[in-house]
Amino acid sequence: MLEKYLNFIKSVSVNHLGKIGVILTTSSFVTFVILELARMIGLFTNAYIGLINYLVFPTLFILGLILIPIAWAQRKRETGKSAKQLLEEQFTYQGVKEGFWGSRVVITIGLFSLINILFLLIVSTQMLSFMDEAEFCGTACHSVMNPEWTTYQQSPHAHVRCVECHVGEGVDALISSKLNGAYQILSLTFHLYKSPIPTPVHQLRPARETCEKCHWPEKFYGTRLRTFVHYAMDEASTPQYTTLNLKVDIGRGQEKAGIHWHISRDTKVRYASVDDQRKEMLWIEVDNKDGSIRRFVNKKHTVKDSAEAEAARVMDCVDCHNRATHIYEKPEYAVDRRMHRGLIDRSIPYIKREGLAAITANYNTKEEGLEGIRKHIEGYYQRHYPRRAGQILDKLDRAVSTLQAIYTRNIHPGMKITWGSYPNYINHDGCFRCHNENMVDQQGKVISHECTTCHSILAMDENEPFKYLKPAQKKERNAAMHKYLQDEFLNAYLRD
Ligand code: HEC
Ligand code: HEC
Ligand code: HEC
Ligand code: HEC
Ligand code: HEC
Repeated sequence: MLEKYLNFIKSVSVNHLGKIGVILTTSSFVTFVILELARMIGLFTNAYIGLINYLVFPTLFILGLILIPIAWAQRKRETGKSAKQLLEEQFTYQGVKEGFWGSRVVITIGLFSLINILFLLIVSTQMLSFMDEAEFCGTACHSVMNPEWTTYQQSPHAHVRCVECHVGEGVDALISSKLNGAYQILSLTFHLYKSPIPTPVHQLRPARETCEKCHWPEKFYGTRLRTFVHYAMDEASTPQYTTLNLKVDIGRGQEKAGIHWHISRDTKVRYASVDDQRKEMLWIEVDNKDGSIRRFVNKKHTVKDSAEAEAARVMDCVDCHNRATHIYEKPEYAVDRRMHRGLIDRSIPYIKREGLAAITANYNTKEEGLEGIRKHIEGYYQRHYPRRAGQILDKLDRAVSTLQAIYTRNIHPGMKITWGSYPNYINHDGCFRCHNENMVDQQGKVISHECTTCHSILAMDENEPFKYLKPAQKKERNAAMHKYLQDEFLNAYLRD
């Protein structure tokens, strides 16, 4: 069998070019199969090897296949013989004799071609699904995607593939994403990309097609209670509590709306922003039930209508949840969170203040940053607490490595990403782009922005998390506000 196969292969290659073709095809096929088997049993998981296996070997395989007929055509030209004559010459006379189509050679060639086509089909589907893996998107162009990959792995969507949000369903989405991918390989090779990668991502699929596969408007109801702990800059890093009851409802009844009102089935909010950056709004339109439109215009900008109307955008999840996955922290919050989890020990004097100073100092490279953080903390405590520094060495070590981890997650000098490079819109910065005094409708009314429109407030920088649920003390500095917020919370649901 093997001998027959070798004979066949020998016969196929009519000259040097043909030989190269045959060798390329067979060797790339064999290497591909071996590497693929190794990958399947988990011998390696490296995305680069996958990339090579799926791109390089199939390409060589096809190249080899193309060379073979070229070699035959060359030979035909050189010798002036017909294809049949050549076939008879190359293969044993027996093989070609019995009727051209029924001959063993033609059947073998046909069979091989079929196997080749099948092989290529399998490879290309495998390749497409491989390229859809988060692992591939996140690590194949490591230096560029590292920030996104790092933040992704620590997000609530760490197990959602990149393509679920970035590509979406349908053939057109697939094709445009692959074209875009091809451009990205070019841009990576010739360093055409911008650092940091600009947002908003204009080619992101509408959230209705992506996010709503897993979350949908009808799901939002009620409220979400959240307590934020912030530590003061004093020696004891005293904790202060803020508790909000976020009104994440889509709406209750006709008139009272909650935070997810903007994306409920029968709401449509459109807006246009300066330079389409989604930062500063020009106008906002809401479709009323009766078909009329309520339009808010930014008093501070004169709207040049037509061009900006074209850039109008229908509001969706990403207008608020722009950092659903690539979540960069604010430095104070990053330290607070680790202190709350006990990763940075609050018994170290002034640790909030010094930790924050260490991570926000200016460093040029990542190595410099990591080293700088260690030097800052160790230096400070040796200078100011020489006696205690020895005793709390363990705690300081842990604090240093935690601070370094904060730095590694959020700062990426290679891509010029530093504190605040990517704003997060799930907070006042995001909401107040529209909910502010400058956006007025035809009647001169503004978009609501009282403090309790979006959340009840149960404590605001207080010494306990549910302060306003307790009776207000007369001599308390903010007794009136305390009472007001308490009533608002207790009565929030009584109206309907
Ligand atoms: C849950 C949805 C989701 C997943 C999963 C996701 N992304 Fe994103 N990605 C987003 C959103 C939303 C934005 C910001 C869009 C905007 O502001 O216009 C974004 C932005 C980006 C950007 C632009 C830079 C930035 O940080 O804003 C890159 C690059 C990117 N994503 C790559 C990836 C890669 C690589 C993966 C997988 C490892 C991934 N994304 C997984 C939703 C997602
Ligand atoms: C493939 C499914 C899937 C897709 C697609 C998806 N998510 Fe999620 N999302 C999840 C899961 C799972 C969680 C985690 C739920 C949990 O931890 O309780 C989550 C959590 C969240 C949370 C809550 C985070 C928190 O603070 O607890 C938000 C906000 C969110 N997703 C927004 C989005 C947005 C915006 C998109 C589109 C850009 C999106 N998701 C796309 C599955 C998905
Ligand atoms: C107007 C801004 C805005 C829009 C638009 C928006 N959200 Fe939210 N969403 C919020 C806010 C604010 C919260 C509360 C954040 C928190 O808990 O810290 C929230 C909370 C959530 C949560 C967690 C809710 C819970 O009860 O645990 C999920 C999941 C979520 N949003 C998904 C989505 C999806 C999917 C869309 C699009 C269909 C969307 N959001 C559109 C502002 C928005
Ligand atoms: C693109 C503009 C835009 C952004 C961004 C935006 N909103 Fe709105 N929001 C509106 C408009 C317009 C209305 C309807 C105003 C009205 O009826 O007075 C509205 C209404 C609301 C309502 C219902 C208010 C009521 O009185 O019934 C809530 C709650 C709300 N938004 C919360 C938020 C939160 C929280 C954020 C930020 C996470 C946010 N919005 C971001 C445009 C926006
Ligand atoms: C348009 C909606 C909206 C309005 C109006 C609004 N907030 Fe907020 N507020 C939010 C959202 C969204 C967050 C972020 C919640 C989160 O981080 O999950 C927030 C967060 C906060 C926080 C917590 C900050 C932190 O991270 O510790 C405080 C305190 C607060 N708001 C107070 C107020 C006060 C006081 C007012 C009135 C001046 C007000 N808010 C008006 C939507 C609103």
